[in-house]
Amino acid sequence: MSALDFTQTSTARRVDDDERTRILAEPGFGRYYTDFMVHARWTLEDGWGGAEIVPFGPVQLSPAAAVLHYGQEIFEGLKAFRHADGSVWTFRPERNAERMQRSARRLALPELPAGDFLSSLMAITAADEPWVPEATSEESLYLRPFMFASEEFLGVRASHCVDYYVIASPAGPYFPRGVQPLVVWISDEYARAGAGGTGAAKCGGNYASSLLAKREAAENGADEVMFLDSETHSSIDELSGMNVFAVTADGRLLTPSLTGSILEGVTRESILRLAADRGLEVIEQQLVMSEVLGQIDRGEITEMFAAGTAAVINPIGELRARGGSWTVGDGGSGEVTLALRTELTDIQYGRIPDRHGWLTRLV
Ligand code: COI
Repeated sequence: MSALDFTQTSTARRVDDDERTRILAEPGFGRYYTDFMVHARWTLEDGWGGAEIVPFGPVQLSPAAAVLHYGQEIFEGLKAFRHADGSVWTFRPERNAERMQRSARRLALPELPAGDFLSSLMAITAADEPWVPEATSEESLYLRPFMFASEEFLGVRASHCVDYYVIASPAGPYFPRGVQPLVVWISDEYARAGAGGTGAAKCGGNYASSLLAKREAAENGADEVMFLDSETHSSIDELSGMNVFAVTADGRLLTPSLTGSILEGVTRESILRLAADRGLEVIEQQLVMSEVLGQIDRGEITEMFAAGTAAVINPIGELRARGGSWTVGDGGSGEVTLALRTELTDIQYGRIPDRHGWLTRLV
């Protein structure tokens, strides 16, 4: 059920048509923002209200706002895809709405009703419709809903005032090199999340804790970092913002099971379905790092890839660690990886039938 009515306070555009065209020609990822943003506020006394579409711009916060001190914040990521007939769609938004509610529970934030989540996506996409890239490109409008503790209060407790926003950013490939095989650094020192922690929630703190490991990865010439479980440092959790998969020579698709410290990726879940549809044996289990490296050495694992909303599906060509490096398959982009990527994006862009009913029209 939807209760919030997002009313637009101004229709004046921030960016002129020529500048927007220039940006859309090469948006990169997360570099440019649209004309508008969506906002709503929750208070303990009144619940959700004040839904509005306002010009994109700075947010005013008290320096004592709880989020700045205790990190009570969560977010989501989705994409709006233009189809050939000009309509604009998004992918499985109900799964993001549910995950945002789970994240909210874990971070003691208020749950936004799924109907309001969806209407906030529709509101920003309608207001920023000229920012949705053409159907002929592999680009999209990335939607970033987020909420944070805005109460001015330094005591440690759940905030009594929470602000919800959706901002939008035109998006090309997540990785600067495009869809090219990644070098992934295996972190032996840092963990992303531990048992009973916030690993399954999409909260800023998980990403903050990945940054030092990501820096270490970059210093070792890698594009991404792979985290192992915090307790034994022996089995694979995920990358800094993506789930991880391996394909075996005998037709299995392996991915770490959801242990409570891994993000329940919407792309992850969709890949498992598409892979099963094409006859792969899908296995969610604990993936012991040393065993995976042995399987790569023996040619039993032939492909690996990273997957997430922003990254879509990106091949992994090499794993690197302090003790050595392992080339996955021939180090290139695997056949199964690319086939899954093509099928997923063909569904998202409306190029093949949406047989699972995953798309929701936004505009
Ligand atoms: C997404 O894939 O949407 C994320 O939020 C992950 C982040 C690394 C961009």
